[in-house]
Amino acid sequence: MAIEIVPLAQGDIPGAVDCVQKAFSDDPYFRWAFDDPSKFNIQRNAASLAAHFQYGINCDCPIYVAKITRAANETKNDLEVRLPPGTVVGVGWWYSPQAPSRPQTWSVWAQEWLLSFRQLMNNILFFGRGGLNVRRYWIWKQVQQTAHDSIWQDPRGYYFCNVVGVNSEARGMGVGKKLMERVMEKADQEGMPCYLESSKGYPNVCIYEKMGFELVREIDI
Ligand SMILES: CC(C)(COP(=O)(O)OP(=O)(O)OC[C@H]1O[C@@H](n2cnc3c(N)ncnc32)[C@H](O)[C@@H]1OP(=O)(O)O)[C@@H](O)C(=O)NCCC(=O)NCCS
Repeated sequence: MAIEIVPLAQGDIPGAVDCVQKAFSDDPYFRWAFDDPSKFNIQRNAASLAAHFQYGINCDCPIYVAKITRAANETKNDLEVRLPPGTVVGVGWWYSPQAPSRPQTWSVWAQEWLLSFRQLMNNILFFGRGGLNVRRYWIWKQVQQTAHDSIWQDPRGYYFCNVVGVNSEARGMGVGKKLMERVMEKADQEGMPCYLESSKGYPNVCIYEKMGFELVREIDI
């Protein structure tokens, strides 16, 4: 399978949203936060993800997508027949390090307001949060903040892998590793640390250990 890893562009947002929704449909955090499947609104969820990707592009976050590509004379394999060139099969969505001592820039501040505004519009358009259990969401946010406050010891901040997801049909083929390496190599060149959280212990801990991560804490919510 021929895959290219490229920075997320505006036109990739719908494909990236679709990929994340599929990759996380059985994720334990997702199922906990959207605890009533009868209330889940997939379009509302897609609008929220799209707003976050737009924020990521506007803030120059290191977000990469894995896309199916194919040279003209290459023969297609089964996966490529099902998924045409250009299909997004993986997303690696990171945040750049933010030193706690440094004030937030005006442009990031403005983008955060814009994101909140877009989410407010989504609440109006879709009559609510699309099945998100808001109480649980805020429990998670608080627990996550407490974890960061005690684990994040480096004063320069961390490259934070917010989401990495690969289409189930393309897993185990090195796509996730390629997506991660794009940012991890940059971090290594800069001598910066990387951090991530995974709500699925198996097999993810093993996968991330192979990529050089080390388990530092288990978080209960
Ligand atoms: C986690 C995930 C992104 C990994 O992507 P992937 O493309 O399947 O992983 P890769 O093929 O690049 O494999 C990376 C390494 O892990 C190993 N690996 C992959 N799947 C594995 C499994 N199920 N068990 C053990 N090792 C595994 C690979 O052999 C490879 O090791 P190597 O470097 O020694 O060859 C993907 O499985 C996924 O999208 N999962 C669902 C969403 C999710 O849980 N995301 C993470 C939460 S933020």
